[in-house]
Amino acid sequence: MSHPKLTRLPQWQALKQHHATIGAKHLRELFAADPSRGERLAVEDVGLYLDYSKQRVDADTLHLLRELAEACALPQRIEAMFRGDRINTTEDRAVLHVALRAPATEKILVDGHDVVPDVHAVLDRMAAFCDQVRSGAWLGHSGKRIRNVVSIGIGGSDLGPVMAYEALRAYSRREMTFRFVSNVDGTDLVEATRDLDAAETLFIVCSKTFTTLETLTNAHAARRWCVDALGDQKAVARHFVAVSTNAGEVARFGIDTTHMFGFWDWVGGRYSMDSAIGLSTMLAIGPTHFREMLAGFHAMDTHFRRTPLERNLPALMGLLAVWNGNFLDAATVAVLPYEQYLKRFPAYLQQLTMESNGKHVTLDGATVDYATGPIYWGEPGTNGQHSFYQLIHQGTRLVPCDFIGFSQTLNPLPAQDGGDQHDLLMANLIAQGEALAFGKTADEVRAEGTPEALVPHRTFEGNRPSTTILAARLTPHVLGTLIALYEHSVFVQGVIWDIDSFDQWGVELGKQLAKTTIAELTATGEPKLGHDSSTNTLIRRYRHLRDD
Ligand code: F6P
Repeated sequence: MSHPKLTRLPQWQALKQHHATIGAKHLRELFAADPSRGERLAVEDVGLYLDYSKQRVDADTLHLLRELAEACALPQRIEAMFRGDRINTTEDRAVLHVALRAPATEKILVDGHDVVPDVHAVLDRMAAFCDQVRSGAWLGHSGKRIRNVVSIGIGGSDLGPVMAYEALRAYSRREMTFRFVSNVDGTDLVEATRDLDAAETLFIVCSKTFTTLETLTNAHAARRWCVDALGDQKAVARHFVAVSTNAGEVARFGIDTTHMFGFWDWVGGRYSMDSAIGLSTMLAIGPTHFREMLAGFHAMDTHFRRTPLERNLPALMGLLAVWNGNFLDAATVAVLPYEQYLKRFPAYLQQLTMESNGKHVTLDGATVDYATGPIYWGEPGTNGQHSFYQLIHQGTRLVPCDFIGFSQTLNPLPAQDGGDQHDLLMANLIAQGEALAFGKTADEVRAEGTPEALVPHRTFEGNRPSTTILAARLTPHVLGTLIALYEHSVFVQGVIWDIDSFDQWGVELGKQLAKTTIAELTATGEPKLGHDSSTNTLIRRYRHLRDD
């Protein structure tokens, strides 16, 4: 039985000791000690400005975190990923989402084969298809042009496309309707299609494996809906396309593989939105904008690969997450985009971060003796302020926050005082970070004339860490850089924790048990049940209430 090495590293021990001195220091002290802290602890590159000065770190912390990263071979692991080594060891796969956005001039080898031309060939096919649909050249079975696109997928085959569609709605073809169906709850599909004309609707079935229960169930139901409405089995050919790595299953479903857009086993599901899984995104925003988004991803990839750790945005984000999680004991991260278009960004990040780093054993299979991936969640500002921010400001748990905002809005709207509503939005973002960091002391509260009994209630302890990410404007390019920032930050954390950030065995058990349960729920007559008493009773109760 091997033991995890991380906590025995001298660099980890040094951070522990350092925490004993800095852990109690208030951000007020840290800012008072260094008047230029706000400028020094910030990095700007590839269109993103990252202010981490409101994190509870000083120069020593940052130095020690970098030393830890070196001890964990972060630079070498970054190279191994970009080189196409099989770093997803439990699935014996390379991890090359970076190849999905590599320019055609690059060469990336997987088992001696350059995958970059393959990537561009698929991108070109996607672009040609999107041009056909968007121009009206691609006709439905009854000769009508396609006005509705319904993307069916789940997890990585859904969350990225939904998030990107919402994020880039301002760049989308407004006269087309885009819907996304993921839940095996029939309501999802029924509500998504109820007002659509099947003759004008294209379904994209997105599934890397093309065996996922939810997606295949919904795809079959969608096919029935389409064929019933159009009265002809042959309609499937003009109304269904597939995105998958599994041509055999696509053909078995009944989609002609000439209408299939492929990708590869070296693309993880949650890292696939810039592969053909992004077909709905490309249909919405067009091939040019899609390529701009890929260029944004690539800009961050290059930054991550080439920039020294002290100015490396994903490395800094990842190391700060390790500091907050392992040394300040924060179990969670709130992602707070002050941008309505990013309303699905926290949901997207939940899979990216938690499916990647929700692991309890090291690459060698040793049980970790330290915390790994934190819980990510969030809502767009300012909605969260009127909901859960109370706990972040005055609760007993430490919730580090990522604030995300843009200097320019895509929808200027004059405010009644003469300014723009966007300034109001961004004033809130900036004020929240300030309030969390510095709080309000009891003396300050008293000085405002607050009755003594209310002083404790109105006191803000402060010292709540946050990072602020600022960009000029939400463009496809900026979205790409932002997503890649988080992708690589997740990787950095996984390297430090010595875990496989690219497998997801944890989703298997529930899937497996559901297979037995479905047979028991649908059995004729009383099924013989061999579960625990709670599960047995739930099954009986469900059947009773359903059939009553
Ligand atoms: O839930 C596990 C998972 O495998 C995810 O990692 C993946 O994104 C999702 O299911 C969908 O898988 P597929 O694209 O194969 O349908």
